[in-house]
Amino acid sequence: MTTHTAAAQASPNIAFIKYWGNANHALRIPVNGSISMNLDGLFTRTTVSFQPALALDELVINGHEVTGKGLERVSAILDIVRQAAGINLRAEVISENNFPTGAGIASSAAAFAALALAATQAAGLAWSERELSILARRGSGSACRSVPGGFVEWLPGSANEDSYAVSIAPPEHWDLVDCVAIVSAGHKRTGSTEGHALAPTSPLQAARVADAPRRLDICRRAILARDFDALAAVVEHDSDMMHAVMMTSQPALFYWQPATLTVMDAVRAWRSQGLPVFYTVDAGPNVHVLTLSAYTTEVTQRLRALPGVSDVLTAKAGGPARLM
Ligand code: PMV
Repeated sequence: MTTHTAAAQASPNIAFIKYWGNANHALRIPVNGSISMNLDGLFTRTTVSFQPALALDELVINGHEVTGKGLERVSAILDIVRQAAGINLRAEVISENNFPTGAGIASSAAAFAALALAATQAAGLAWSERELSILARRGSGSACRSVPGGFVEWLPGSANEDSYAVSIAPPEHWDLVDCVAIVSAGHKRTGSTEGHALAPTSPLQAARVADAPRRLDICRRAILARDFDALAAVVEHDSDMMHAVMMTSQPALFYWQPATLTVMDAVRAWRSQGLPVFYTVDAGPNVHVLTLSAYTTEVTQRLRALPGVSDVLTAKAGGPARLM
């Protein structure tokens, strides 16, 4: 091995059909498939450097050294890479996000997709997109969807090797724009790893999972046909179903804040007036408001005028994880 250092970048993604609940927690194999869009312009950039002088792995995120659980999660991925490459060196991992961490913008998805690519490359492995997607999934389930580009579907599978994501359409397929209404940039209360474990405690989860193949079909077809109204209906319904499961878990998880509901109500009203918009909410209070690029300014202005909205980020469909 000549070089032990590599850098990669990946974008977060917003799920249109949500992943919530695992069939296998350790491997992060989901109970249902999911579909998402990568978010262009938002990214995590990660450099991995395997160094003989290090006694332990080191992790620095946005200039702050991370230890404990955060470091353990990264070391677990590095262990898989070390084993595959037959190396025993510890690594320094330096990661920077250009968007707020832990506020429902899936920073872990971008982070583990970038880590998978940078770490394998630094270890001298040239893994396929599928292998990278599988590796990223081990760090954070939704990270498997940030490896391929554009509009992406995670095929749930039932074992490590058959649970990975594929692109169903490239970014330029459709000029959808995600206008992320930030209602709170603080760190979320219950992380998604704990949330997935609580999903089966809701009596609504079984119904949500049983109906997932139908929603996935509608969503996939709406994307391929660029059918905005069909996509709007299925995505809002899927988000509401996931939050119904969260709210009825034991203990209950309420990610919405009053301003979350204000934005959701406004989006429904604007759509009934003819504006092409729909919402979806992940495991945090911020609302992702999807529209067509021609309406970005209009939607952004309307969102900024709502009480409780402190900022709006915009992103069109983004590309795959890539080396820098
Ligand atoms: O990948 P995780 O464990 O952070 O889970 C993501 C869960 C949601 O963002 C709520 C839904 C999704 O499919 O992205």
